[in-house]
Amino acid sequence: MNDAQLILEINKLKKEKDVALLAHYYEDGVIQDLADYVGDSFYLSKMGQQVLNKNILLAGVVFMAESVKILNPEKTVLVPDTEASCSLVEGAPYEKYLAWRRQYPDAICVTYINSSAEVKSISDVIITSSNAKQIVESIPKDRRILFGPDQHLGKWLSKQLNREFILWPGACQVHILFNAGRLKALIDENQDALVIAHPECDDEILKHATVIGSTSRLLEEVEKNKSYKKFIVATETGIFHQMQKLRPDAELIQAPVVDENCMCNDCPFMKMNNLEKIHRALLTFKPEVKLDEALRNKAYASLDRMMKITSNKPVEWPAQFNG
Ligand code: 13P
Ligand code: SF4
Repeated sequence: MNDAQLILEINKLKKEKDVALLAHYYEDGVIQDLADYVGDSFYLSKMGQQVLNKNILLAGVVFMAESVKILNPEKTVLVPDTEASCSLVEGAPYEKYLAWRRQYPDAICVTYINSSAEVKSISDVIITSSNAKQIVESIPKDRRILFGPDQHLGKWLSKQLNREFILWPGACQVHILFNAGRLKALIDENQDALVIAHPECDDEILKHATVIGSTSRLLEEVEKNKSYKKFIVATETGIFHQMQKLRPDAELIQAPVVDENCMCNDCPFMKMNNLEKIHRALLTFKPEVKLDEALRNKAYASLDRMMKITSNKPVEWPAQFNG
């Protein structure tokens, strides 16, 4: 089947089988345009909890599909490729994270959504880059904070909030590849451009950015800041699709990477998804996200705290980690 036929079939199967298609901003434009909901990881979690369809297909990475299943276990949650992981997930294996967590039993463990269900199950609260500040601010000032697995997001947040974190040393393999020297030269050549960056980038990149935020925050800046017609964007390439749609008049320049010949800012995990795999998942209802119920329950507690805090509801913090 060619792309046009696949698109027709996908739309037909979605309706017939009552499936909501959720896609992350880092997917190819053609997938974003097919989706019922497109957004950042927090938005996808929320929509995954709220959609009325019986089934959900999440075109993103596995931890996003797992988060939806944890929050909304009644739904059948499909993911086009179970190999679509994330370097942050890979860099924080459960046993090691548990050993680290056990070293600081009195601390609150704040874990980025880019983590496995097992790691979520031993965390106190989950954050995404769009709600991290609000969540950390809600933690009592006298509690120590363990923050993982993204050290760059952690360092940026810790500076923003003037609060010390004990950091897990993980990183996003895509966002650490921007090159500060080449970025500086690009800024010098384009002094009329606004530099915007995702907080998974290294400090050396972030110090050049005027706006730092989640994928949806960066999109909002491009959409609403009409005083700029040029933006230098330090994040994954998929977001350019929505940016260009919302600001066809704007010039969007990808921040330079270490090697000008590589496609380093395409997330290899997000880009594992394609029309064929989405079509196959709808046709066969496989692969489906399945989680052990005891694990799901434990992971739910930390994701539920995220949902409660972002809805301004009160939460209780455990005094001690007993796992
Ligand atoms: P967002 O929360 O901004 O969607 O980020 C998720 C992610 O994986 C960024 O690399
Ligand atoms: Fe993970 Fe980075 Fe890909 Fe986001 S862009 S899914 S953090 S590897």
